This record gives sequence, C-alpha cells and structure tokens, in this order.
Amino acid sequence: MTDSPDNIAFTARAICKSFPGVKALSDINLDLKVGEVHALVGENGAGKSTLAKIIAGLHQLDSGQMLIGQASYKPLGRKNAERNGVRIVMQELNLVSNLSVAENIFIEKLPSRLGFIDYKKLNADAGDITKNVGLAEMDVTAQVSRLGIGQQQMVEIAAGLSQKCDILILDEPTASLTDTETELLFAQIQKLKNEQVSIIYISHHIDEIMRITDSVTILRDGKVVSTNPTSELTAEKIVNKMVGRELEHNKLRHNAKLGEVVLRVEKLTRGKKVRNVSFELRRGEILGLAGLIGSGRTETMRLIFGADKADTGDIYLYGSKVPAKINNPRQAVKNRIALVTEDRKEQGLLLPLSVTKNISITNLPRLSRFGWINQSKEKAITADYVEKLSVRIASPHQPVENLSGGNQQKVVIAKWLYRDCEIIIFDEPTRGIDVGAKFEIYQMLDELANQGKAIIVVSSDLKELMAISDRIAVMSDGKIAAEFSSDNFSEEKITAAAFSEYVNQKKERP
Ligand SMILES: Nc1ncnc2c1ncn2[C@@H]1O[C@H](COP(=O)(O)OP(=O)(O)O)[C@@H](O)[C@H]1O
Ligand SMILES: [Mg+2]
Repeated sequence: MTDSPDNIAFTARAICKSFPGVKALSDINLDLKVGEVHALVGENGAGKSTLAKIIAGLHQLDSGQMLIGQASYKPLGRKNAERNGVRIVMQELNLVSNLSVAENIFIEKLPSRLGFIDYKKLNADAGDITKNVGLAEMDVTAQVSRLGIGQQQMVEIAAGLSQKCDILILDEPTASLTDTETELLFAQIQKLKNEQVSIIYISHHIDEIMRITDSVTILRDGKVVSTNPTSELTAEKIVNKMVGRELEHNKLRHNAKLGEVVLRVEKLTRGKKVRNVSFELRRGEILGLAGLIGSGRTETMRLIFGADKADTGDIYLYGSKVPAKINNPRQAVKNRIALVTEDRKEQGLLLPLSVTKNISITNLPRLSRFGWINQSKEKAITADYVEKLSVRIASPHQPVENLSGGNQQKVVIAKWLYRDCEIIIFDEPTRGIDVGAKFEIYQMLDELANQGKAIIVVSSDLKELMAISDRIAVMSDGKIAAEFSSDNFSEEKITAAAFSEYVNQKKERP
C-alpha cells in the first residue's frame, strides 16, 4: 500500500516538548496509518508516555503540529481529543477505587448531582462492555478496590474500548495482565483493527510487539530513532536500536570501601512479579537496581522491607546463618532496614507538621523521658540533620508541605538516618526532583555509603545509576537477569539485560 494522504489517520510533525530541566521530546515525526497497530518502544524515560499524552490532549506541545487526516489537530484537553476521535488508556490506573466497576466505566456520564442514576441500565450496559473484553464473570457492581490489579487494568481498558474512536492509544496496557487477560486484549485489538481503528501500542514486551503490530517507532532520549514495518525487524534489532546513546557517564563514586555482607537475599519469590531473586549487599556499597518499569524491582524491595510477604525464599542479615524474620515493616526497622520510596506523601511525612516534628516523631523515645519531649534536644538534632543534608528551609518550624519535592525527600531521609538504619533502600529517590537537588542526593548517597551504610538504589535513570553505583543488578520480568561491576558498566549491556526476559517469552507464566 502506498501512503496516500487518505491512508494516514494521524500525523505528528516536529513535535517538541520540555519539562523543567528535561527536553522530553524533540522533533518527533510520526505517521499513523488507518487501521494499523503502531508500536512505540524505547527505554524508561525515552518519551513514549509524553508523546501519547500530547496526542491524547493531556499535555500541550511546545512546538510542532498534529494532523488528523489532513486537518490540523490541536486538542486542548482529553475531552477535546475524544471529540476528535482520539482516546487513551493510560499507564497509570485512573479508576476511582470506591466506585463500582460499572460506575467507573461510565464515570463521564454519571449525573453529578441532580437526577437519578438508572442503576439497572448502568449495570446492564457495563456488563455488556466487560463481556466484550472477555470479562464475562466480572461483577460490575463490585467496588473497584476489591479487584486485583490486573482486573483493574482490564476495567480501565474496557472503559477505553467501550467508546467509539478512530485512534486508540494503549500505554503499557499489559503491564499487570496475566497471559489470559493479554490474549483477550489482543483479540479486541484485532477486532478494532478490522473496524479500521488506528492503534498506538506502547509496550516493552518485544514478543508482543513482534506479534501484534504492523510498524514500530523507536524512541531514544526523546527523539525518533527509526520507524519500520514490524516485518523488517527482529527482537534483537529493536533492542539494539533503543540503546547506543552516548552517555557521558560521570562517575560520582570513587574509592568505595566495601565491608562485610550485611544483606543476603536468597531465591526470593512472590507470584510472577518476583522470581527466584538472589543477591548480596555489603557495608559501604551502593547497589543499583536497574530494570524496566514493572520488572519487579519495587516488589522485591517491598519483600525485603516486610511490606509484602514472600511465597518462598529467605533474607539473611548481618552475617547471621539464620534467616531473618521480617514479616512487617516494624520488624524491618528493628533490623535497621529503611525503605525510602518515591511517594513522599505515603512515606509517613506528616505534611502539615514542622520539619522538626517530622524528623523526631519516629524516634520519640530517644527524645522523651517519662513521656516529655526534650525540646531543646529535638531542636538540636533537627538542626544537625538539616545541615547534614542541606535541607533548604526557612525555619525548622516550617510545615513540610511547603517544601519543594527535593527537600521533602531529604526530610524523609533524615527521619530514617535518625533511626540508625544500616541498610537503606531508595526507590526512585530522585524522580520528579530538579537537577540541583538530584546532585545533592547523589552526594548524600555517596557519603552515606562512605560512612558504612549499605545502600540499594532503584532507579529508572540509567545514567544516574551508572554514576552512583558500585555494582548494578538488572531485573527483567521478575528475575535478576545480570549483574555488572562498575568497571563493567555499559548502557548496551544493562539495557539488553533489562529486556532479556521480555524478548522471547515462553508461555510458562501462570
Ligand atoms: N510531568 C512531568 N514533569 C516533569 N518531567 C516529566 C514529566 N513527565 C515526564 N517527564 C520526563 O520526561 C521524560 C520522558 O518521560 P516519559 O514520557 O514518561 O517516558 P517513557 O514513557 O518513555 O518512560 C523523562 O525524563 C521524564 O522524567
Ligand atoms: Mg511511560
């Protein structure tokens, strides 16, 4: 088929988009043919979701042009894009957890105040829609919060597919689906394709891409590397094109002094998210944990922290021959393990309280005698940490909610340091933080390691990981796919390992 203009459903011309400190997209050109499934692939942070959101009206482009057919297309928001026939199923779940499945599917149509909802009709219609995506047994009156994550994602997809559209964007739709659910989705995609719907399909499951897409656009660092018909590509070619970026990998770690092994994880397994994970961590070491989003890094860290329970496997601490009992975070903390997650609001930061209170509250016994808080001691300690971490605050009494993301993050870290933790796990410690604050956090990690703390950093920013880690372990689809020492780091090797379990997936998963 030739690309006559009426064969083209959507065109992007020279789209650019920046966020503070990041050029997320530069000069993106894309042609989407009528009725094709077009894959967007690339490493974490390549710009896939940003492009998807611009097309779906959720972000505004800085410069460039979009066309639907041959008409100029400038969506002002999601609703506006939908009126133009463009819909998106986003990477993040957007369900309202205390509403029912049916209510979520029809959320845009629910009368807000006046008028009654005809629940009989609503539920019947929702039943049709879920049946359509193969969820025949789903109880549409069930509250969404009661569903598993895969089911929730299917509801989200069902809601997206239920409305007519010409262009459908699916951003990592199979990330939490089982094989059966994935097959249901593929059947739907085939059906939409037959109806001449054009689909943009974002996934790091290269096997899926080889199977269901017609063409593949590869993004790297916010730029298009290439667009090819899928038939001209192989899994290996795709992975090779994603890497090859010149990373000036500025090493920040020097002269690491490694001590004894303080953490040994053996064959840790939970469902299909964490599979037989084993590794060691030494005092004074920074272990980077690389991998694609959804590869099981956070899940593994949650097991070590006792936030979830492993099906099998053991954790050995501080050289002990007896597996540690870590059944909940409280026990983890007793064992001097800390977990600093990216979600600062969920991190036990009490936003309305002052910096001082936030730091001291987790360790009040150290400050109080007979129940009285020693205020001068509290003050002195806060001042110490504020200085150590160069937290930028106007006063120690400033409520934490008024601080920038980077400074909130530092307060979280101060809290943990104050508890004398020896093993500190950082999950995406610099996400959403500006460049300057990032650098300060790197220096702090370096310093903590030099003081003899054992540190794990989960990050989706490979450049960052290569700069700050003494060693990098790479997870792929729940497994540790490879480990590299710092004199052996390369983007190619790490990325190839990150994709390795997604390339030729055998149907062995439950
Ligand atoms: N809302 C945002 N604010 C600031 N930076 C962002 C935002 N969304 C994305 N970015 C940045 O833009 C780049 C591309 O991100 P994204 O499009 O999410 O990548 P992908 O989906 O390919 O993993 C990354 O560097 C990311 O950190
Ligand atoms: Mg994304």
